[in-house]
Amino acid sequence: MTALTVEAQGLTKYFGNFKAVDNVSLEVPTGSIYGVLGPNGAGKTTSLRMTLGIIDPDAGSSRLFGGQRPQSVRHRIGYLPEERGLYPGMKAREAIAFMGALRGLDWSEGRRRAETFMTELGLERVIDEKIRKMSKGMAQMIQLIGSIVHAPDLIVLDEPFSGLDPVNQERLEMLVRRERDRGATILFSTHVMAHAERLCDRLAIIARSQRRFEGTVDEARAMLPMQVRYTPRGAPDPAVIAAMLPPGAEPRGDAWQFPIADAGVEPLLARITASGHGVAGLSIVRPGLHDAFVHIVRQVDAGFEADARVDALEEAAL
Ligand SMILES: Nc1ncnc2c1ncn2[C@@H]1O[C@H](COP(=O)(O)OP(=O)(O)OP(=O)(O)O)[C@@H](O)[C@H]1O
Ligand SMILES: [Mg+2]
Repeated sequence: MTALTVEAQGLTKYFGNFKAVDNVSLEVPTGSIYGVLGPNGAGKTTSLRMTLGIIDPDAGSSRLFGGQRPQSVRHRIGYLPEERGLYPGMKAREAIAFMGALRGLDWSEGRRRAETFMTELGLERVIDEKIRKMSKGMAQMIQLIGSIVHAPDLIVLDEPFSGLDPVNQERLEMLVRRERDRGATILFSTHVMAHAERLCDRLAIIARSQRRFEGTVDEARAMLPMQVRYTPRGAPDPAVIAAMLPPGAEPRGDAWQFPIADAGVEPLLARITASGHGVAGLSIVRPGLHDAFVHIVRQVDAGFEADARVDALEEAAL
């Protein structure tokens, strides 16, 4: 069995009467990159905070590094919180060294590592710039480096990609892989499927306060059947095309995408040929993590809407 760096079991949190997190477990294998995915308000941040012992769960528990309470291993953790913030008067190098010092890193060693990190990431030109003069995204990069400068064994990043331009997003992906290669375990939340798809060894999808999926990216993608992507010739009336295709077909640019039928694509091709719409493109594609995510979240939402309808009917009957 693989060792687990994070073992959070049955985490539950109420805010007033609202159950923001409902029985969520997170098990993160040592040395892996683990994603927590979910829509806004799903409960990701609250789950991460309970995992790190920043807030207490109403039920459940979190143990790190083989049975330790999170509060007792703070120096082994690097955390980028959702709410960002650095001292605006500090220069980048000092801000990074300062964050390291808070986790027990020697000051001059922190300054030295700040320089190494920033040079490797191609950010050396802002090393002596004050935080207040920096763009929001650049300050976030500095805070990211500051949160890992003490070489923690567990790195927890809450929405680390949000607000970064594509170049900094790539830098961050590189940084995450490098930290993993160094031996660290990385747990991060995101709504950007592309990052999760490229980075994660395993992931959890949280929607409406509960964990709805846990597994690898491939396992998530395998939940959906293969998809047909069909591009009609010319610019036909979308309503006509939709009527010809199986239910659930969705437009994707010029193309339409829908799950492949058990009978294969031949009957469909026959129908298209008979209709005279022609084929500018036809391919079979594996659904991506994006498709799997949307599928899972929609199913959960549909369940909630059905419950709400039942509640409304029961209320009306009273
Ligand atoms: N301190 C708080 N007091 C009251 N409600 C809260 C508090 N913190 C979070 N919530 C509520 O709990 C739910 C989950 O919030 P949380 O921040 O964990 O979601 P999230 O998945 O991180 O969302 P996002 O993607 O927007 O960051 C939300 O409905 C939120 O409004
Ligand atoms: Mg959040």
